[in-house]
Amino acid sequence: MTKKFNNRSWAEPYKMKMVELLKMTTKNQRLKALKEAGFNTFLLKSEDVYIDLLTDSGTNSMSDRQWSAFMTGDEAYAGSKSYYNMEKAIQTFYGYKYVIPTHQGRGAENILSQILIKKGDIVPGNMYFTTTRLHQELAGGKFEDIIIDEAHDAKSEFPFKGNVDLNKLDYLVKKHGASKISYVSIATNVNMAGGQPISMANLKALREYTKTHGIRIIHDMTRVAENAYFIQQREEGYANKKIKEIVFEICSLTDGATMSAKKDALVNIGGFLATNEWDVFEEARNLVVVYEGLHTYGGLAGRDMEAIAVGIKESLDDHHQRARVGQVEYLGKKMEEFGIPIVKPIGGHGIFVDAKAFLPHLTQDQFPAQTLAAEIYLDSGVRTMERGIVSAGRKANGENYYPDLELVRFTIPRRVYTQAHMDVIAESTAMVYDRRKKIKGLTMIYEPKYLRFFQARFDKL
Ligand code: F0G
Repeated sequence: MTKKFNNRSWAEPYKMKMVELLKMTTKNQRLKALKEAGFNTFLLKSEDVYIDLLTDSGTNSMSDRQWSAFMTGDEAYAGSKSYYNMEKAIQTFYGYKYVIPTHQGRGAENILSQILIKKGDIVPGNMYFTTTRLHQELAGGKFEDIIIDEAHDAKSEFPFKGNVDLNKLDYLVKKHGASKISYVSIATNVNMAGGQPISMANLKALREYTKTHGIRIIHDMTRVAENAYFIQQREEGYANKKIKEIVFEICSLTDGATMSAKKDALVNIGGFLATNEWDVFEEARNLVVVYEGLHTYGGLAGRDMEAIAVGIKESLDDHHQRARVGQVEYLGKKMEEFGIPIVKPIGGHGIFVDAKAFLPHLTQDQFPAQTLAAEIYLDSGVRTMERGIVSAGRKANGENYYPDLELVRFTIPRRVYTQAHMDVIAESTAMVYDRRKKIKGLTMIYEPKYLRFFQARFDKL
């Protein structure tokens, strides 16, 4: 084959059947909306947003097949057929034995943390996620970051920045003893690192290590298929494997999982907890009725469970993932052409702009990422999210965490926006980049106790 054909573009393996019309706003309207929202993009009304990159969570477009499955939802309180369909999809494609539905990912995190974590335990993980760490802490555990150092360096181009540093884990095991480690908390395609994958080799080494010490691995599999795509593209020995096979292998190296189905699984709401251990399942089945609902619906409607079952299967299609990650790469390359500092390698679910490098004249206490997200909204109505000091929150002793990464996340919903939207996003960010030296920081005027980034309010300095 000639080079011309080897380099053929990807394109979406679907076409549009329905569209949602958007409101176009003026700069004055956006300034008013931004002030009302306390310069926090979480507090904007979505009506005032043109392109919404706040999150890839629950913002997916469902397929015609998922909508059809919706109509077949069995809304029985107990023993819904839809539960068994979802359970079967999880068992077939992920390989976990027992399944508890939950309303979304954090519902599963709450239940699993309560079961597996004792007061004073240590929970090592490959970088924190906001809700995951909070549930671990509320259950009495202490999260310890064991991700490789490269993950904290926005400039490192290491291909598997989601990897665990086994020396960091070994240090914790020696210091506290294996019995004090509740489990190792492993996320695939680490969100806070920029959507960066863990390699199969690293996961295998971790499995070996934890096996000899009798420690569980709990898998946050929210974006497992995106991780599998990167393994297929980057890891030796996986180029000819299907995403479906790689996902199954990843899951087989872990003992249980929590999942926010609102991401990879292509639905708007839902999640679950899965385990291979009967005892853990039994306890989870007891607890789920307290917090979520009966163990055969866990806070979901029957139709939601049907849509998840179909969405899981669609998420494992190689063409789907190529287009999904391909779109993110397209945006990232476009931004790089404009000289905008982004986290490399380009991640799976979005582009992470390095706000420290973008606004070097601001201190971290002036919230560079929060500031940048506000400025981009003002420029074009593109809504992004802070992932820096505000998201990191405070330690148990009240001190702020000062994360190395101070990022603005441009999260791409799945199957929602076009390549032309990507062009507009990159051009708007470039406009803000041109006037970056004139941008002033923010001060926080209201701070909620938990997960402050959701509801905090700011004012211009
Ligand atoms: N784990 C990861 C890695 C996540 O990204 C999320 C959610 C959760 C757990 C919690 O799941 O929202 O269904 O309760 N992340 C969203 C985001 C909120 O925007 O990154 P949930």
